[in-house]
Amino acid sequence: MTSNEIRQQFLDFFKSKGHRIVPSAPVVPHGDPTLLFANAGMNQFKDVFLGTGSREYKRATDTQKCIRVSGKHNDLEEVGHDTYHHTFFEMLGNWSFGDYYKKEAIKWAWELLTEVWKLPKERLWATVYRTDDEALKFWSSETDINPKHILKFDEKDNFWEMGETGPCGPCSEIHINLSDDLENGSLVNAGSPLCIEIWNLVFIQYNRDSEGKLHDLPSKHVDTGMGFERVCAVLQKKKSNYDTDVFMPLINAVEKLSGISYQNEDDMISMRVIADHIRTLTFAIADGATPGNEGRGYVLRRLLRRAARYGRKINLKEPFLNKLVHVVVENFSHVFPEIKSNQSNIEKIIKAEEESFNATLDRGIELFDALIKKLNVKNEKVIPGDDVFKLYDTFGFPVDLTAVMAREQEFSIDEKRFNELMNEQKERARKSTATKISKTFNLNLSYSITTVDQIIKPTIFTGYDELRSDATIIDVRNDNNKVLVILDRTPFYVESGGQVGDKGNLFLDDTHLRVVEVAKVGAQIIHVVENESGIELIAGMKVLVEVDSARRWNIMRNHSATHFLHKAMRQILGQHVQQSGSYVGPDYLRFDFTHFQKVSETELEAIEFLVNEKIRENLPLNHHKDTPFDEAKKMGALMFFGDKYGDKVNVVQFGDFTMEFCGGTHVKNSSQIGLFKILSESSVASGIRRIEAVTGAGVEKYIKEIQLRIENGELRIGELNDEKRKLEKELAELKLKEKLGGIDAIVSSWVEVKGIKVFKGRVSASNMDELKSMGDELREKMKSGIGVMISEIDGKVGIVSVVSDDLIKEKKILAGNIVKEVAKIVGGSGGGRPHLATAGGKDVSKIDEALASVENIINA
Ligand code: ALA
Repeated sequence: MTSNEIRQQFLDFFKSKGHRIVPSAPVVPHGDPTLLFANAGMNQFKDVFLGTGSREYKRATDTQKCIRVSGKHNDLEEVGHDTYHHTFFEMLGNWSFGDYYKKEAIKWAWELLTEVWKLPKERLWATVYRTDDEALKFWSSETDINPKHILKFDEKDNFWEMGETGPCGPCSEIHINLSDDLENGSLVNAGSPLCIEIWNLVFIQYNRDSEGKLHDLPSKHVDTGMGFERVCAVLQKKKSNYDTDVFMPLINAVEKLSGISYQNEDDMISMRVIADHIRTLTFAIADGATPGNEGRGYVLRRLLRRAARYGRKINLKEPFLNKLVHVVVENFSHVFPEIKSNQSNIEKIIKAEEESFNATLDRGIELFDALIKKLNVKNEKVIPGDDVFKLYDTFGFPVDLTAVMAREQEFSIDEKRFNELMNEQKERARKSTATKISKTFNLNLSYSITTVDQIIKPTIFTGYDELRSDATIIDVRNDNNKVLVILDRTPFYVESGGQVGDKGNLFLDDTHLRVVEVAKVGAQIIHVVENESGIELIAGMKVLVEVDSARRWNIMRNHSATHFLHKAMRQILGQHVQQSGSYVGPDYLRFDFTHFQKVSETELEAIEFLVNEKIRENLPLNHHKDTPFDEAKKMGALMFFGDKYGDKVNVVQFGDFTMEFCGGTHVKNSSQIGLFKILSESSVASGIRRIEAVTGAGVEKYIKEIQLRIENGELRIGELNDEKRKLEKELAELKLKEKLGGIDAIVSSWVEVKGIKVFKGRVSASNMDELKSMGDELREKMKSGIGVMISEIDGKVGIVSVVSDDLIKEKKILAGNIVKEVAKIVGGSGGGRPHLATAGGKDVSKIDEALASVENIINA
């Protein structure tokens, strides 16, 4: 039986029992911030279980794309090392929403396994929660399972929860014993590949709240989950999930790429990891996630790097993961068409990400190997946290990758010290933000900190409802002719969530002072006031503060319009559209979002049309301020994983069109936006697009400009733009050629010193990283020899030296020593690894002299 037949038979079986076959939810749950990735089939029905949502059917069945790499359900460590855990897998499931319960769930599960699929009854075992005598009874009355094969377990194995909070309940699992010892119940739940869980029947009846308390749900539900890949292995009589037709096409493709067959255990682990991780990457990217530095993006980055590094172990050095995407597409797109429609983007994203990691991977591995050697000599078995940190910080090795590599050598890592260093790094970043604030306002840092910590109460923000407020000065600091004023209340909005800060005036009797900037320090709002009049401001004084209202109205129009734009795009382009950044100013708005291809002209027109139509509907603002987070979530307000929300949030709603978590300020009804016009659509990074647009007076201005251009006969603007783009492209290509040509020139003009080829020359690199890459390039091209390249970088000197492996080995020539000597001449210093080292210097006038000295240095 093929895996496709197995999947279909499961769905058809439950269809025959009155279930609706529904599609899998995206594996990236954009609407649920408690979840990084879909981790169970029930995720998409969470609202039904909690009683906050409903469906038009009471029974459902599907195959759900799941990823388990973090949080409560995390299988990452096992993946590849055993034969039945995966980071990505399909979960077949059937559900009852307040309809049938334990009896039917158990009876039908047994029927499918033993009558349709004819699994040997003597190999099947059932477990129930220790107090669930009801389930126990139904196993006896509704099935002919051997009564000795029904076992009780406690919470750990037989109470299922989605995460720290959410729907949960006792469960009953079905395990299959593949060993020869048919009556050996001790294998159940013992983590043995000879006896594995294939199906979990959960009887959802509670909700766990954030304090850990269980509450009865309004109804009782059934939620089951069967590991598709495992059941395929059982039915296809394979010892390993990877031997089934779900994985074999991928394993075969990896064999082909690497030229190594799936035979020897170490190679097999690598191939399994790669086959597993490429599925996860493909499906997650198809649903809108991208590798990055945070949250789910970082999970993907870690998986990709892990796979790339396992690739190294089977000779796969060039980026190869992107070449496996089509195999996933060929095998699964008939069930999950989204991977096919996004294929070329997925390939591009994976390739770019792998290329950027590859640039440092070899150097990282080299450092790691040297470390192990050093520690072995000292007979130590723990890799110091400082080195783990260096691998992370300089070479991009996620800590779990280093841990895997360490484990392979029977080493462990000092995670405690690593975490300390990570925290220090975070602290440095935090401080530099604080310094930025103090610099902006020429404050001394200790002052701003004491202000935050000690001075009285937070500033009350009145700017949702009024643009001018009476206020009392709480504190004042003078700084040249600027004054920093803290008030008890203010309508001034401080830049946040993309919306820029307000400007305006402060009135003191007859005097008016300009507020040129505002900032938040702690919970207080600081007004930077220009005080040319020299009037003295003192704490306790009553003032009137007024926001520049024309400017603020323009900002509000643009901000409300971003919500309309966001919603319209989700309707027209799809639910994968997710905000990834924004700028909301008085002049225009910019909105960055996840999407895989260029938004076409027709789509842009449709989006613009929908936004304007909704604007004209005069939708009133419903501003839910200070709403408890849970309540806001229940209302269905749009929010995104990765954003931090407090206990209380603001929700901005316009009619029944859009509802988002948002702290910004908005127009009172949509008509006040006036008109909305998209100016441009472009790409920001792989998978991220950008729209720039104007509203209200901005549109008027835009129309005037167009009119003017028409009058001036600038209709050829499009052609000119094309020409400009062409020229820019040519220029970039020329620059690149020039750089590479520079290296070629160096390669062909070597000199010989003591029988060694010396390659040297002046190049033009834009930064040290580029110079380093050029070093790598030279090292590759020169084969055997010593290379020295010097570039002027931002008014300083950058030097890179490379040495080929043969010279390191046979002549003990080290790049670090050479670079150090060369650097001396230009007034600098440096060092690095034996094969590549860099240095900086100050004196650009001595670059030629430094280059000329290379022969002498080698001769010395
Ligand atoms: N939700 C249950 C599980 O994931 C079926 O195991």
